[in-house]
Amino acid sequence: MSDLCIGLMSGTSCDGIDAAAVDFAQHPPTLVDTHYEPYPTALKVAVQAVSDGSDDRLDDVMALSVSLSKAYANCANRLIAKLGGVIPRAIGSHGQTVRHRPEAGFTVQLGSGAIIAQMTDIPTVTDFRSMDIALGGQGAPLVPAFHNAVFRSTAEDRVIVNIGGIANLTLLKSGLDTIGFDTGPGNTLLDHWFRAHHDGAFDENGLWSSQGVVIESLLASMLDDPYFSKAAPKSTGLEYFNLKWLSGNLSGAEKPADVQATLRALTARSIAKAIDQTGADVAAVFICGGGARNSALIQEIQAVIPTVEISTTAALGIDPQWVEASAFAWLAHQRLAQQPGNLSSVTGASRLAILGSLYLP
Ligand SMILES: Nc1ncnc2c1ncn2[C@@H]1O[C@H](COP(=O)(O)OP(=O)(O)O)[C@@H](O)[C@H]1O
Ligand SMILES: [Mg+2]
Repeated sequence: MSDLCIGLMSGTSCDGIDAAAVDFAQHPPTLVDTHYEPYPTALKVAVQAVSDGSDDRLDDVMALSVSLSKAYANCANRLIAKLGGVIPRAIGSHGQTVRHRPEAGFTVQLGSGAIIAQMTDIPTVTDFRSMDIALGGQGAPLVPAFHNAVFRSTAEDRVIVNIGGIANLTLLKSGLDTIGFDTGPGNTLLDHWFRAHHDGAFDENGLWSSQGVVIESLLASMLDDPYFSKAAPKSTGLEYFNLKWLSGNLSGAEKPADVQATLRALTARSIAKAIDQTGADVAAVFICGGGARNSALIQEIQAVIPTVEISTTAALGIDPQWVEASAFAWLAHQRLAQQPGNLSSVTGASRLAILGSLYLP
């Protein structure tokens, strides 16, 4: 008997939808099948237009939410078609974050569970973050709870680093509550700076960044941002780390490739700094998320923390590309079981809580 849930993840990189079908009948859960659906350009442009914190019209935002919901449902249906007749118990859909302001009491993920449930005929869970925020938490990151459930080991202390648009880390240390927080920009500044100077979505393998030289003064001024030294719990988003934030640090005289090299260094150094902030003497770091495929970035992280062994979550049994989508399958599974999805040691919420709104078809 399988116990299958689907997770749909569309992160701040705004690249598309990762869908993972995960079987929870075994421990650790197994990734049964996956599907990736890039966002059509029009959807990407529309999401980016409302993600940067500028003013938006509610009609446009809700129309975008409906379009996204249909894209999520179509993506789920394509994955379901690969499952050979096995019907998933639920879909967990993260949605598309277009605003994240926990300090103001809200976070907004577009995408309607009602539409997805209707189009797939599968119970659908959405809105995973707001209960945690209502309990005084950051509502983010949520993946550390999943990392804790599947990657914790009594034999070894581990750090899991998820490099999406924003990067987050999880410390899994024996005898210690799980620690996790957003470290700052992962790929987002690299992506946006690349797109400002090239056609194409991102700096493949960090090749362009490798043609530049790190500008130490720029790196220092960016790392001076109070976010990097702030104590956890903390989370952030594109309304903060965006090209406007970058411009505030630039003189305008820099060579574009040098800026790209410096942004790569910023991601690497801020991750290293965050590992240091946990105070743990970590021996093993496992990377996941799209940033795991940026070989220049991974090499730089390794260079910054040479004594730590760096690999990807593939070494722990889950392909780095599918960890976050698997986490939302797990969160849907937790919701069905009426089990908590958050960790108050991570988000700062006053207690553990069942997360997500469940829509029945
Ligand atoms: N081959 C690659 N070289 C460099 N960067 C890559 C590569 N593959 C993926 N990426 C980066 O990963 C991002 C997508 O990561 P993803 O984990 O989907 O983030 P999110 O969860 O924010 O959507 C891309 O925007 C890009 O920055
Ligand atoms: Mg993505």
